[in-house]
Amino acid sequence: MSKVKVLFICLGNICRSPAAEAVMNTLIHKEKLENRILCDSAATSGHHEGDPADPRTISHAERRGHKVTSLSRPFNPRVDFKSFDFIVTMDDANFSDIKDMDLKHEFGDKIFKLVDFCADKKYKTVPDPYYGGPEDFETVLNIIEDGCHGLLQKIKSSKL
Ligand code: 4NP
Repeated sequence: MSKVKVLFICLGNICRSPAAEAVMNTLIHKEKLENRILCDSAATSGHHEGDPADPRTISHAERRGHKVTSLSRPFNPRVDFKSFDFIVTMDDANFSDIKDMDLKHEFGDKIFKLVDFCADKKYKTVPDPYYGGPEDFETVLNIIEDGCHGLLQKIKSSKL
């Protein structure tokens, strides 16, 4: 059986999507689903290509037990639309940027927002914490943990 592949997307791939990748990997590890689910993350922009995650993302996530290891890479429409089963964006701008790269409208049913999977419906987006403070990184992680939990349930109940 091939793995279900999840790609998390944000603007820079140094704050939110690397955190989502790390949180999802924690859940995958806890449930021993490493041979069923693979995740990765990418950016809608190329500005931080090759950069490790923001140190604030790394430290806030690690305090909660999530190991952040990714290096920023841009989303590659030629490869990523076909490769991944769930392309999970953090905010409305990421969502519409990814939609716009789907030139022939072939992959719309793979493109999601992480908040779609949250149990707490208070948040309509995962807000960009880059110019924010420590509390913003904590809020981001709260939303991401909720969304990743819901996404994992969705994958476990899907036929993929
Ligand atoms: P991310 O956050 O999209 O969650 O990785 C950002 C990182 C960098 C910038 C903006 C948002 N920036 O403007 O450089």
